[in-house]
Amino acid sequence: MIRQTFPVGKMKCNCSIVVCPKTREAIVVDPGGDAETILAKLKELGATVKLILITHAHFDHVLAARAVKAATGAPICLHKKDIWLYRLMPLQYRMIGNKDKVPPRPDKLLLDGDALTAGALSLSVLHTPGHSPGSCCFHLADEKLLFSGDTLFASSVGNWRFLGGSFEAIIRSVNEKLMVLPDDTDVVPGHGPETTIGFERKNNPYLQPESLAEIKLAESKKPGKLKMLGLMILAIFGF
Ligand SMILES: [Fe+2]
Repeated sequence: MIRQTFPVGKMKCNCSIVVCPKTREAIVVDPGGDAETILAKLKELGATVKLILITHAHFDHVLAARAVKAATGAPICLHKKDIWLYRLMPLQYRMIGNKDKVPPRPDKLLLDGDALTAGALSLSVLHTPGHSPGSCCFHLADEKLLFSGDTLFASSVGNWRFLGGSFEAIIRSVNEKLMVLPDDTDVVPGHGPETTIGFERKNNPYLQPESLAEIKLAESKKPGKLKMLGLMILAIFGF
């Protein structure tokens, strides 16, 4: 397997290109910006993109999806439960002052357990709601590699306070879907440094009972979702 992971866009989303060395068929995970960079790397690698995988429908993971699809013809794949968020992409673009055309509708709707291939590469879709209802991780078991989107970060988990997010759901997803993977699984999160399942199992504060109890207590004192929604509306419309 050939893999290149590099930060793209202002939010420094980790975009990855995974290439089958035999067929040069490839997968692009989270084309979150800097389309020219992604396309230049694909050219350099001699890769034919078979799948454009989106871990979840936040703008910083899809900003270059339109350009990558236009250049490669590959299908955009997203979990079914994030379609409503994807449809809010014009609003998300507006929030960040981006006047680009939003990406086209997904070509393939993903479900938990789906198996996808590109050349000799095979991966399974793990539905891990919590950061958003349709958040997914992509697991390449043969390569001991996980793309964890904004579900699991090095020593943290994704923000659960966005619309459609849930603290209970993200903790459950990480425990039930990710912590069952082998310790030596490399983890490529949606932002920030790479880690491993084993390191997170031992060190991630969200996975240790004592620190999790403290986090839960602090969480109960934070503003609720309705207040957050109000703040979002204020930010978008300025009133
Ligand atoms: Fe996100």
